[in-house]
Amino acid sequence: MKQESGNRPDLLQKVFDYHQATKHCFQGYARAPGYLDWATQPNPFRRFKGAQLMPLEKIPPTDEPRYDEAFVPGRIPPVPVNLRSISQLFYDSLAISAWKSTGETRWALRANPSSGNLHPTEGYLICGPIEGLCDQPMVCHYAPKEHGLEVRAEFELELWEKLGARFPQDTFFVGLTSILWREAWKYGQRAYRYCQHDTGHAIGAISMAAAGLGWQAKILDDVSTDALALLTGTFRKHDAEPEEPEVLMVLGPFEEETNEIGLPEDHVLTFESLDWRGRPNQLSTSHVDWGIDEITEAARKPHGSSRSERFQCPPKQWSLETRPVSLRQMIRQRRSAVAMDGKTRISRDTFYRILQKTLAVPGHIPFRTLPWKPHIHLAIFVHRVDDLPPGLYFLVRDPSQRKALEAALTKADLWRRPSGCPEHLDLYCLFEIDARYHARDISCFQEIASDGCFSLGMIAEFAQPLEHYGPWFYPRLFWEAGVVGQVLYLEAEAAGMRSTGIGCYFDDPMHQLLGLEDCKYQDLYHFTIGGPVEDDRLTTLPSYPDE
Ligand SMILES: Cc1cc2nc3c(=O)[nH]c(=O)nc-3n(C[C@H](O)[C@H](O)[C@H](O)COP(=O)(O)O)c2cc1C
Repeated sequence: MKQESGNRPDLLQKVFDYHQATKHCFQGYARAPGYLDWATQPNPFRRFKGAQLMPLEKIPPTDEPRYDEAFVPGRIPPVPVNLRSISQLFYDSLAISAWKSTGETRWALRANPSSGNLHPTEGYLICGPIEGLCDQPMVCHYAPKEHGLEVRAEFELELWEKLGARFPQDTFFVGLTSILWREAWKYGQRAYRYCQHDTGHAIGAISMAAAGLGWQAKILDDVSTDALALLTGTFRKHDAEPEEPEVLMVLGPFEEETNEIGLPEDHVLTFESLDWRGRPNQLSTSHVDWGIDEITEAARKPHGSSRSERFQCPPKQWSLETRPVSLRQMIRQRRSAVAMDGKTRISRDTFYRILQKTLAVPGHIPFRTLPWKPHIHLAIFVHRVDDLPPGLYFLVRDPSQRKALEAALTKADLWRRPSGCPEHLDLYCLFEIDARYHARDISCFQEIASDGCFSLGMIAEFAQPLEHYGPWFYPRLFWEAGVVGQVLYLEAEAAGMRSTGIGCYFDDPMHQLLGLEDCKYQDLYHFTIGGPVEDDRLTTLPSYPDE
């Protein structure tokens, strides 16, 4: 593969143009169909016709490990890599978690959330021989509806050994791709952003599921998009909707800093000539072109581009209480609230504990999965937190950004530390206001943003990392936002509440509220946490018929 620069100004301009063009604003939404064309609704389940399906085990949640322990490396003893543990990894990250039905209509929910429940993210396992699962190295596609692995290709042990030579024993890889059409069908031009959020949520879900097995999960940042297309077999041309390679993760029961290790790309090239099996199913009968190919191509990771800067912040000390809460139960019961009750309050300590879990403390899970330093900060609308005045608060997730943020947030008034705030939490009250209507209106008038305990906007360092690394860093900003979101989803469940990711928000009105005047920082995602209102009209069915 030829070396390419990751930093072409023309491609970078395309990223800035796309981001600007896909902003929602009070005057109008980003280009989208505006209605749902049910005749072309994409099938949420990709299958490869002709590929052998190997069933995985369904492993109901257990009391152990404890939820809070999973965030601290080394607390959960690693289990061996075998059929059962691989089954649990997928069951706790990308599998179906329940079916919902009303009348004749039935739809699946999964352990990982997805914008519009459209689930563009597909998962692949690339592994050597695994006890009980396979005797030969293979590439498999994960089929969530069946909770099984479709064997796309098998290859020689010699190739696996060359590929994994620099990785610890028992390492395997999980690749994620996006079927962009699934989101574009409903969301048009903004769909690329949502696919990246969903990838981030899937990365977070895999990282937490791995933690429950005592394993590490790391993004291999050096792998180019072309290399990942070869490893997952998605380079092959066919009539069905294409899959865009997103990310390769290395997983296993090891301690080493594996994301510093590169993949030998000359061996990756040999994947082109494997005997690839199965034909992907067509998901819709026809398609509309929303022009997202351009951003997809511009943001691909070229071969030989620089790697992201590692996080050098000194470790902070915190004492994590361990609640009698099951990690796997939280993972499997995670759901989005469709409405908040407008009354539930949380204590100040619960609020601080939730925020604490979103910190990228070096070494802590799931943020150690991301090799780069944190670029996402939280602008928080506090509505119903005991002993805290309602207002707009700000959590700085990388302390080295504090001064730059203070200069950029020109409307911020106070920068006052809230009372009782733990020392290691860089949290500030910017102004005291009744923030409910701001939160609701900025989140496309969605009341879930005002009726919860708090909601927030994820403010990303934007221009600098993109100019520094190149356009390939654009999706990574959304991935980080998705991982933060995944922690918020689980934290809400562990606190007896519920949360919802909010992809529909008005970008520039949020910037104006904060006084952000240029592209240095951009709002990339919203979130809400509170007491949910359950929809009694819906029936919940088990995730798999044999459960
Ligand atoms: C990136 C992203 C954006 C989302 N945006 C919204 C939103 O704007 N409004 C909303 O009510 N739900 C939103 N959701 C929640 C999804 O609708 C929800 O995840 C999906 O229906 C699946 O349900 P589940 O999370 O209960 O599994 C979003 C979820 C994600 C991951």
